[in-house]
Amino acid sequence: MATWSAPGKVFLFGEHAVVYGKPGIAMAIKPRVIVTVRESRYHQKPNSPYIAECFRLMDVKGSVYVRSQLPSSSGLGSSAAVTVATLCAINDEFELKKTKTEIADLAHQVEMSAQNGRASATDTYVSTFGGMVLVRGSEKRRLLPPQNFSLVIGNTLVSHSTSEMVGKVAELRKNSPDIAEPILDSIAAITMHAMHNLDNQKEFGNLMNMNHALLDALGVGHPMLSKLVLAARSAGAYGAKTTGAGGGGSMYAICSKSSRNRVAGAIEGCDARAITTTIDTDGARKEKDE
Ligand code: MEV
Repeated sequence: MATWSAPGKVFLFGEHAVVYGKPGIAMAIKPRVIVTVRESRYHQKPNSPYIAECFRLMDVKGSVYVRSQLPSSSGLGSSAAVTVATLCAINDEFELKKTKTEIADLAHQVEMSAQNGRASATDTYVSTFGGMVLVRGSEKRRLLPPQNFSLVIGNTLVSHSTSEMVGKVAELRKNSPDIAEPILDSIAAITMHAMHNLDNQKEFGNLMNMNHALLDALGVGHPMLSKLVLAARSAGAYGAKTTGAGGGGSMYAICSKSSRNRVAGAIEGCDARAITTTIDTDGARKEKDE
């Protein structure tokens, strides 16, 4: 029996644009998914297509038990975390001796097949290694996060499908490239500005607000996301934006320590769930078997 866990993530900047080779910044967060795998001749077919694909790719049979601190379909990388933790647990249980880099690559392959061939390696890389990362195509650069970088996440409780949202942007790009391309280029420029302003919360917040507006323009907004973003800004956040695929899922806000509770309260006041969290630097890790 082997038990591993892997963290969720927030996309700080650049979601969707990153699918087309533009830069994106993502950060691992504290809540994680814990997966136990046991070798077994009687292989139960897993309910999750991600877990089924992990067993198929690794060519092994076993049983699996999942516990999650991350809401699913919420834009917080739960499918990547489940994939990474499952691959690590399989790797350990069957002594396959894959490195973490190989696990991250395999996890990306799993997401690609679940998202119709359109997935950046961001979620799976960040979940495997933890920390804050700039991703651009196959390049991954680890960023030094600012001190005490905490954020308030607002989960709309509206579930969404990442592959559907990725498909929506692909359609806009195909039908109206003259509209979609400049939006994706602007998101890329905002991401690069953000990378140079990690320590300047006010400017970081302004850039978040711009990125949010451009995600709306791409068609991946949702009334609940708009509501939470506006509520967080009115409660004093420096900035608030959708995180992840959109169309539901989650947003996050950056605010001063003194306004953090007010921002979380404003989000809860909209019948959504607030999570105050910070960076995870462990990435995937082995846990005690229970
Ligand atoms: C999903 O968390 C982020 C997207 O950019 C898709 C991806 O990067 O694979 C929408």
